[in-house]
Amino acid sequence: MLQNIYQPHEEHSKDARIKNMEEYHALMNEANTDYEGFWAKYANEKIDWFKPFDKVLDESNAPFYRWFDGGKLNVAHQCVDRHLDSRKNKAAIIFEGDNGDQRILTYRELAYEVNKTANMFKNQFDIKKGDRVVLYMPMIPEAAISMLACAKIGAIHSVVFGGFSAEALKDRIIDAEAKLVVTSDGAFRKGSPYMLKPVVDDALKSGCECVKAVCVVERNGEDIHWEDGRDYSYNELIKNESPVCDAEPMDSEDPLFLLYTSGSTGKPKGVQHSSAGYILWAQMTMEWVFDLKENDTYWCTADVGWITGHTYIVYGPLAAGATTIMFEGVPTFPDAGRCWKMVEEYQVNQFYTAPTAIRLLHKMGADEPKKYNLSSLRTLGTVGEPIDPAAWKWYYDEIGNGKCAIVDTYWQTETGGHMISPLPGATPIKPACATFPLPGIMAEIIDENGEPTPIGEKGFMCITKPWPSMIRDIWNDSDRFVKSYFGDCKKDGKPVYFTGDGAMIDEDGYITITGRTDDVINVSGHRMGTAEVEAAVKKHASVAAVAVVGKPHEIKGEGIFAYVVLKTDDNVAIEALAKEINNVIKQEIGAIAVCDDIVFVPDLPKTRSGKIMRRILRSIAKGEEITQDTSTLEDPSIVKTIESIVNSCTI
Ligand code: PRX
Repeated sequence: MLQNIYQPHEEHSKDARIKNMEEYHALMNEANTDYEGFWAKYANEKIDWFKPFDKVLDESNAPFYRWFDGGKLNVAHQCVDRHLDSRKNKAAIIFEGDNGDQRILTYRELAYEVNKTANMFKNQFDIKKGDRVVLYMPMIPEAAISMLACAKIGAIHSVVFGGFSAEALKDRIIDAEAKLVVTSDGAFRKGSPYMLKPVVDDALKSGCECVKAVCVVERNGEDIHWEDGRDYSYNELIKNESPVCDAEPMDSEDPLFLLYTSGSTGKPKGVQHSSAGYILWAQMTMEWVFDLKENDTYWCTADVGWITGHTYIVYGPLAAGATTIMFEGVPTFPDAGRCWKMVEEYQVNQFYTAPTAIRLLHKMGADEPKKYNLSSLRTLGTVGEPIDPAAWKWYYDEIGNGKCAIVDTYWQTETGGHMISPLPGATPIKPACATFPLPGIMAEIIDENGEPTPIGEKGFMCITKPWPSMIRDIWNDSDRFVKSYFGDCKKDGKPVYFTGDGAMIDEDGYITITGRTDDVINVSGHRMGTAEVEAAVKKHASVAAVAVVGKPHEIKGEGIFAYVVLKTDDNVAIEALAKEINNVIKQEIGAIAVCDDIVFVPDLPKTRSGKIMRRILRSIAKGEEITQDTSTLEDPSIVKTIESIVNSCTI
């Protein structure tokens, strides 16, 4: 029975790209009837091919699927150059700095900057097609310009989030064998300068012989260490470059970028995306899910260091010819009304953020939205984690004034773009529910036998047919690619893509994501592997063993909870030790991975074969009753001991 449903608003539906559920089902039927025909139609319509493709989908070497083989294109051409006829004076990027400074780049100006930068990469740093370039950048236009410049000459970028530590940056540089690092002196946050270049200097101290040069954009003007012969000024070099640069013709399957993300085991994996399939779906979802119109101003608050920033700040909006906002600052500076002030000022039509930000803005400034005129908003988006009904309601009532559709977009670094999401003009929305797969996406919830799970029961969230924007490989580790994504679930006897998430379907066919089924924690919409955090904690000299689990957190969605066994029982100052452990995490990974809780325990609950029983630890962290059988543990009494420690001394 349909209840608690928010129907799409008539004024949005009447001229939406997908106007109602009949149109949605018609598209789904089209894809079901002729899957390749469906995708071929859009690929022909949306992409400005240099040479048309010969084959839609090649499954001969599954799961290494190939899309649009034989086609030639260039993603920077698709995002910038092809708009110059009709949109040359339209704003492509609106940049707002932390301190409120503004810079607007039209499509013509963006083309000019991208070409100069592309020429600089080629001429000054000898970057060629297929070379890897690491971008360690703040949220400034040069980040997007550098990404597009790489695309223009066929270099593969790997953007590393500016909050990652020198160690994390170094690991990613080495894995990708990057030839060039592009960074900035730093940027501004909450009214003060912060630094990035010193982190690059640290990262390059050892083991990064592959890096031949560092190209530094000036942003905050602070003093930085300069290594002659390695460090070059972007601002100086760019002056001499020509604004004319031919786009490198790329094969459909040539990699566009790598983006490292956490898995349940081992080191972060370099998710490899293609050129044609990726840009096609980035553009299509931008148009469908945000119902983009020519004069819209669109704002996604993510950072370019994450997939959301790649697909929905840079590639999707620009491929669709939109005006996209890039914001350097944080939503709470100078106050919790910053976003709403910007929505009013730029007359933002689509606003896209994470539930964590919504919860934070609600908590810190429940009355702020009332101070601004938010009537330009049509579509509100959320991404990265489940949104709870309370946050959904505040977003809907106070930000959307009851008149906007909320698109709860479910997807992952590996999927390249949205997989399951409401369509603003068509889908009757149930709060906090990702609703239905997008047209062309065969998302199914199945059990271990590949059968659809019954209504209301949890199953594995799988995508049972390949789709154009899917991950193509893990850089340097094809075995891990196959095992990580195609090792767990089968349908009709064939391996299918498993997201790592659990999900449920209700009696009306609505899909709700229930969260990760593996050892990945979702902190503020960012993926954190427990194995990675544990490896960092173990680097502290006093730590003998550690187990890390997720625990519900009021703002972040999930927080990190660590159980630590020390090498010595001697009286130690545990508060100081907890701080030290978090400092090690900051050094090894970055501040985003610090633990909210650290408890020191005499041992961990292990089976006789030595396996740590994380489920028990999760239950204890959540304060739940232990329902698991503890009799098979090496020492069953440890559970009670840990419970009493947690109850008495959570730091
Ligand atoms: O667990 C799911 C959760 O975020 C994971 C993907 O994280 P990442 O690759 O970092 O990409 C985040 C931005 C796309 C998923 O496996 N997730 C993402 N979106 C949602 C979500 N969980 C619930 N609802 C969502 N809308």
